[in-house]
Amino acid sequence: MTEQQFIPLKYSNAIESGRYTWSSPSNIALVKYWGKRGNQIPENPSVSFTLDACKTTTTLSFSSKEDHSNFDFEVYLDGQLKEDFKPKIETFFKRIETYLPFLKTFHFKIETVNTFPHSSGIASSASGMSALALCLMSIEKELNPSLAEIEFTQKASFLARLGSGSACRSLEGDLVVWGEHNEITNSSNLFGMKYPFEVHENFKNYHDTILLVDKGEKQVSSTVGHNLMHNHPLAQERFKQAHENLSKLINVFKEGDLKSFIEIVESEALTLHAMMMTSMPYFILMKPNTLEIINRIWAYRKETGSHVCFTLDAGANVHVLYPEPEAEQVYDFIANDLVAYCQNGHYICDRIGFGAKQLPI
Ligand code: DP6
Repeated sequence: MTEQQFIPLKYSNAIESGRYTWSSPSNIALVKYWGKRGNQIPENPSVSFTLDACKTTTTLSFSSKEDHSNFDFEVYLDGQLKEDFKPKIETFFKRIETYLPFLKTFHFKIETVNTFPHSSGIASSASGMSALALCLMSIEKELNPSLAEIEFTQKASFLARLGSGSACRSLEGDLVVWGEHNEITNSSNLFGMKYPFEVHENFKNYHDTILLVDKGEKQVSSTVGHNLMHNHPLAQERFKQAHENLSKLINVFKEGDLKSFIEIVESEALTLHAMMMTSMPYFILMKPNTLEIINRIWAYRKETGSHVCFTLDAGANVHVLYPEPEAEQVYDFIANDLVAYCQNGHYICDRIGFGAKQLPI
């Protein structure tokens, strides 16, 4: 697939106005995307668990307008007009305009609601951008009803990527790969695809409890962090390692090898943060309580033989991952030992999910 293939031919239908609603989840990367070039092209492949409870629901209302010279939209979060969301969406629209030529012909009202609190330190860009991309694709589908389902999903992922890289992994579940990898046929830098190989029972219904260590705005955005991978002295080795870790995970998923899973996932999380600490300028997103939690998890695992492990995204919050049969014990451990390290004792119980859904209007 090339970018060119996402430019639509002439639409067969015309529409005046309408409304679509999609709900799309967040995702947590196991092999991390960190470093990009050109038009949101990842420097290495990544794989993620799609989440279930952490999601964004977006309603996109549209009506045709006379003047086609500008994008025209307003954005609401939880019913409140959000002027500060506009620049990010304007950038998104500019990036995708070639692929959705109708964008300047409508006025849009974007109404969005997150299941997780806005100030939780959980990035809403993956769920938010994927939900918006899906709403836009519903319009395209109405303009071109012959669009097949696979084309619809692939293009929605392609568009979501242009909004925020990790968003392209939120459309489907329960495992999604994004980025070219030599052992995964049809894997692409342009969109996410469902992980195509066998996955052992051990990885079904995996849990992710998100410990909210720091709910503040992070000091360095992902976009800035990605850019610091250009000229990073360790970058090439890191990109190579991501390919290798994804190769290893193929067998781990097949065999249900929880021990190796833990090793790869925790190493990926710490490598991500090591890249931040060795960037120029260097920065640290972990907080003292992030490290306390990691140490507690290691001690608990040593004591009990549990298969609980952690991962981190670009922030201080800790994602605690554990298999379904151990859910009760690990949950007790979290409630008794880890909650003390969360800001205001806040955490979110989530688990693997199956992707975005269109909701009736
Ligand atoms: C650490 O997708 O937020 O969560 O493409 O600039 O929007 P942009 O970045 P973003 O980066 C996410 C980075 C990560 C790892 C991951 O999700 O793979």
